[in-house]
Amino acid sequence: MPKIAEILRGALTGQDVELRGWIYRTRTIGGKAFVVLRDSTGVLQVAVSKESVPADQFEAAERALIESAVTAKGTIVADKRAPGGFEMRAKELHVLSFAEKFPIQQDLSEEFLLDVRHLWVRSQRMTSIFRVRHTVFGAVHEYFRGEGFYEVHPPIITPVGSEGGSTLFSVEYFGRTAYLTQSWQLYAEALVLSMENVYYIGPSFRAEKSRTTRHLTEYWHCEMEQAWASMDDVLKHAEAVIAHACHRAAEENADDLKFLGRDPEVLTRVHTPFEHITYDEALRRLKAKGMDVEWGKDLRTLEERSLTEGMGQPLIVSHYPRVSQAFYKRRDPQNPDLVLGFDVIAPDDVGEVVGGAERETDLEYLKQAIVEFGEDPKRYEWYLDTRRYGNVQHAGFGMGMERLIQWICKLDHIRDAVPFPRTPARFSP
Ligand code: 4AD
Ligand code: MG
Repeated sequence: MPKIAEILRGALTGQDVELRGWIYRTRTIGGKAFVVLRDSTGVLQVAVSKESVPADQFEAAERALIESAVTAKGTIVADKRAPGGFEMRAKELHVLSFAEKFPIQQDLSEEFLLDVRHLWVRSQRMTSIFRVRHTVFGAVHEYFRGEGFYEVHPPIITPVGSEGGSTLFSVEYFGRTAYLTQSWQLYAEALVLSMENVYYIGPSFRAEKSRTTRHLTEYWHCEMEQAWASMDDVLKHAEAVIAHACHRAAEENADDLKFLGRDPEVLTRVHTPFEHITYDEALRRLKAKGMDVEWGKDLRTLEERSLTEGMGQPLIVSHYPRVSQAFYKRRDPQNPDLVLGFDVIAPDDVGEVVGGAERETDLEYLKQAIVEFGEDPKRYEWYLDTRRYGNVQHAGFGMGMERLIQWICKLDHIRDAVPFPRTPARFSP
């Protein structure tokens, strides 16, 4: 059975086809029912006239409420008046299940739409985003596999954190306390000495109370780690994978992107290398705009927004002060107050999409850093073995998939980049 997208591409014009889907909109005027059908690929108007279908079918078409499931048979014609430029002239229309009155009508609050998210996932807005998300995930896998990276999988239930204790979710584990993973960090550093070039996309959890337009408590994290590699080596992969995802989305989802208000041309133009500045330079630029940031402080949303204002593609900021950074990041040999770490910052209020770094290889320093960050090195003994046995230079990064999708789709809020968002206030439906 064909899909609506094929019809909208003009592939089936003049032919008789059978479709199945759900009623998206419906109205009846003068012996004609205009039933807009949706499937996973798009929406199509089906014109059902009294003369061309059996009487009981016409009556059912008139009576069926939105979200009723139907099959329709008829001829595809090009018609400028129809949404999308094509229409089916029905010869048969069968209502498979009559829907009750759908709770989602017009002008509903964001909160209500989140309450009925299990139904709102059928909307044109959400399905457009899902198709882009599908492309972006595929493009990221395609990129890393093409570059010779192995996909390997860390555990999700973990004994310790790597990004700071305050954002760990604990789970009761048969009488002991375990945590949901924040990052594959420690496991990546074990696996990189086994499989050399590794990546993965999986869920990460952050118990962050921050109610912002770019924080979820559960998000999909693309992480990569590379052996024999420097910060600059992995930075190139960060730029290239983002550019690749943008290009793929522009190629495969141009209509969806336009529907969401993102001009696909902007994505087509994304190119490497991205502009790259140091943290100190970022502070100078901010100061010139009248924004004073105390040296050592992480950049906040408003500062990231200001740095990327008017830019058509992301910006890289590197060499952050060590005080604000996780323990495993390598000190800059030129200046021990800095780390060889970077963020990739997207414009349009999205902010940090990637955080990465070269990793510290000095065992004694690392033990001390773990203590300084308030953790007990005993609990990290297994991780420290990576520095005892076959220690080599390595680096990696983590990319928030929803932040990337938020930027690509130009979404105001990160929660729409994922079907069922998890935020401090909500974990249902
Ligand atoms: O900067 P983060 O905390 O870095 C790490 O976890 C490293 N261990 C990654 C690595 O080097 N393998 O997180 C990485 C990215 C951020 O840049 C951001 O895009 C995303 O994960 N992220 C979130 N996305 C949505 N909601 C949140 N609460 C996020 N926290 C981080
Ligand atoms: Mg970060």
